[in-house]
Amino acid sequence: MALTQAFLYRDEQLYCEDVSLQELAEQFGTPSYVYSKNAICRNFHDFKTIFKSLDPLICYAVKANSNLSVLSLLKKEGSGFDIVSAGELYRLQEIGANPQRIIFSGVGKSLQELEMALDSSLFCINVESLEELEVLDNVARDKGLRPNIALRLNPDVDTKTHPHVSTGLRQHKFGFDINHMERILQLLKPPSHLNLVGLGCHIGSQILDIQPYLDAFLRLKAMANKLESYGFEIQHLDLGGGIGIPYTPQEKEANLVQYADLLAQHKDSHRFLFEPGRYIVGNAGVLLNKVLYYKTNHEKHFFVVDGAMNDLIRPALYQAHHEILPLARQEETIKADVVGPICETGDFFARDRRLPLFKRGDYLAIMNTGAYGFVAASNYNSRLRPSEILVDGDRSQVIRQRES
Ligand code: LLP
Repeated sequence: MALTQAFLYRDEQLYCEDVSLQELAEQFGTPSYVYSKNAICRNFHDFKTIFKSLDPLICYAVKANSNLSVLSLLKKEGSGFDIVSAGELYRLQEIGANPQRIIFSGVGKSLQELEMALDSSLFCINVESLEELEVLDNVARDKGLRPNIALRLNPDVDTKTHPHVSTGLRQHKFGFDINHMERILQLLKPPSHLNLVGLGCHIGSQILDIQPYLDAFLRLKAMANKLESYGFEIQHLDLGGGIGIPYTPQEKEANLVQYADLLAQHKDSHRFLFEPGRYIVGNAGVLLNKVLYYKTNHEKHFFVVDGAMNDLIRPALYQAHHEILPLARQEETIKADVVGPICETGDFFARDRRLPLFKRGDYLAIMNTGAYGFVAASNYNSRLRPSEILVDGDRSQVIRQRES
C-alpha cells in the first residue's frame, strides 16, 4: 500500500485531484497552501487498514496540521487526536471531538493546561517527569478526580533522523528516565489520585526505518510487564508518531506492513496506540508560490518567489528538501536557488537545484508541505500568513483566509 498521490500532471498542468492549481493560484492568490481531501482521508484509511489486526487507537498528531477543516475530516474518518497544548484542545472542542479519544502529550504542560485537561475528561494524559506527576496529582486531588495517565518513557533508541526531530535518546529532554522507576512507583501508589493505564514513547519524526520502533516497543513491553508485577494494570502501549514520508525521489516509504507484522508477532493483551501526524497529511498539501523575479548574482541564478521562510520554515530550520514543480510544465531547465523576499540568507526553498526556467509571473508548487507547513508559519517581517484551500474532487474551498 503506497501513500496516495493527489498531485499529478494532466495536459502539462499540475492538478490537485480534479482542480487545476494554476486556476487556484490565479483565483485565490499566492502564497497559498492547497490540500487534497482525498489524500488526507486515504492516508488515514490506509494507516488504519495496515494496522487493522492490532485494533489500535489512532490519535492524529494535531500539531502536524491543525486547520479546523482538516481536523473535522479526520474526526469523520474516526480518528482520535494527540494534542500538546490548550490551544490544540480548544481547536478540538470547536469541532466537537470526543474527549475520550484525545490524549495530551508534551514535556511542559502548564498548570492551567493540566486543569483544562482534567475539566475536559480527556482519555489520557501522557506524563513526562516526576514534577509533572506531583503537580497533576495535586490538581486531580483538588478536583476530586482520578484521571488516566500514561508514562512517556525515554527508550534510548537511535532513529538516525535529523537531530532537531530525534527525541528518543537519553540526552533528549523527552520522557522519563527508566532508572527513575522506583520513585515513579512511589508517587503512583495509594493515595495517588492518578490512574496509570499506559506506557508510551515518541522516538522522533521523519523516520523511514522501522527497526528503532521495534526496539522501543520491546522496551515498553518489558517495562509494562515489570509494572504489572507490581500490581499496576497497563492497558495500552503508545508507540507515538514519527513515521516518515519520502521527500526526495530516492527516499523509500517506511515499510508499515512489516512494522504491523512485527508488532502482531509480539502482541499480548496491551492495546496499541499510535500518534501519526506527517504520514496522514504530509503529502496531501502543497504551497503555491508565484515567481516575482529572476536574477543572477555572479555565477548564481535565483528565482525570487512571493512565499518565504515565514510561510514554510522547514528548509531553513532542517535543511529539509521539498520538490519544486511548475504548475505549467516546461522543457527548458536551469540550476538555480528558489528564495523568498525575507532579508535572511536562510530564506530559501531550494539551493543549486535543476529547475524549470521560470519566468516572472510563473507559478510553482512546493511539494509535500501538508505537515509542519502552515502550522509553523509566522508573521516574521510583518508578513501575512497565507491562505489554506481544500480541494475535494473538482471543488475547492478556502478553509482559512489569507491574513489581511
Ligand atoms: N507525538 C508526539 C509526542 C510528537 O511530539 C510528535 C511530533 C508526533 C506525535 C507526530 O510526529 P509525526 O508523525 O508527525 O512525525 N517540525 C518538524 C517535526 C516535528 C515533530 C514534533 N513531534 C518537521 O517539520 O519535520
